[in-house]
Amino acid sequence: MSNENAVLQGDVIVVTVPFAALLDTLKTVKSSFKTGQVLVNVSVPLETAVGGRATRTVGVWAGSAGELAASVVPKTVSVVTAFNNVSAELLKDPAKQVECDVLVCSNDDNAKRIVLDLVKGIAGARGFDAGALENSRTIEQITALLVSLNIRYKVKSAGLRITGISPVS
Ligand SMILES: NC(=O)c1ccc[n+]([C@@H]2O[C@H](COP(=O)([O-])OP(=O)(O)OC[C@H]3O[C@@H](n4cnc5c(N)ncnc54)[C@H](OP(=O)(O)O)[C@@H]3O)[C@@H](O)[C@H]2O)c1
Repeated sequence: MSNENAVLQGDVIVVTVPFAALLDTLKTVKSSFKTGQVLVNVSVPLETAVGGRATRTVGVWAGSAGELAASVVPKTVSVVTAFNNVSAELLKDPAKQVECDVLVCSNDDNAKRIVLDLVKGIAGARGFDAGALENSRTIEQITALLVSLNIRYKVKSAGLRITGISPVS
C-alpha cells in the first residue's frame, strides 16, 4: 500500500527509510496521521546521508532522528525510538532467534509499552525502557558503532545485550 494508506490504517507505524529521506517521507504523510497513533522511528542519521561513512553520524538540528520525526508529525502522535540497534539481517528469518536487545525510548509511557510488547513477539529479543525520547541521541550513535563492528569482524549481525538488569516484563 502507499505510505499514506499505511499511516491511515495503522495503529503503530514504523518508519525505516534512510535518514536523507526521513523528513520528506514524514512530510508527505503528515496529514494522514490520527490522534493516538504511535510512530516508531528506526532511521539513524548515518553520515551516508551526505555521502559519508556508515560508521559515523551527522549532527541533527532536532538532536536526533527520533526527535526530528517528533518535530514533523502532529503532537497527538507518540514518537518512539526503537529497533535502531537491530540488524535487518537478523530479522530476515522470523524463525531465527534474535540475540539482541532493543532499546525503546519515548516521552509517552503507553507508547513505549506498546512497542515493548511488539519486541516480545521477536524470538530471543528483549526490550528495555530506555527513558525519554531525547535518549535517541545516544541510541542512534550506537548504530554507527555496530556498523563499524560489522565491518571489522566481517559480519552483518552485531547487536547489543544489556546485562545487570532484567528486561521489562
Ligand atoms: N539495515 C539495518 O540493519 C538497519 C539497522 C538499524 C537501523 N537502520 C536504519 O533504518 C533505516 C533504513 O535502513 P535500510 O538498510 O533498510 O535502508 P534501505 O534498504 O536503503 O532503505 C529502506 C527503504 O527505504 C525506502 N527508501 C529508500 N530511499 C528512499 C528515498 N530516497 N525516499 C523514500 N524512500 C526511500 C525504500 O523503500 P521502497 O523500496 O518501498 O521504496 C527502501 O526499501 C536507515 O536509517 C538505517 O540507518 C538500518
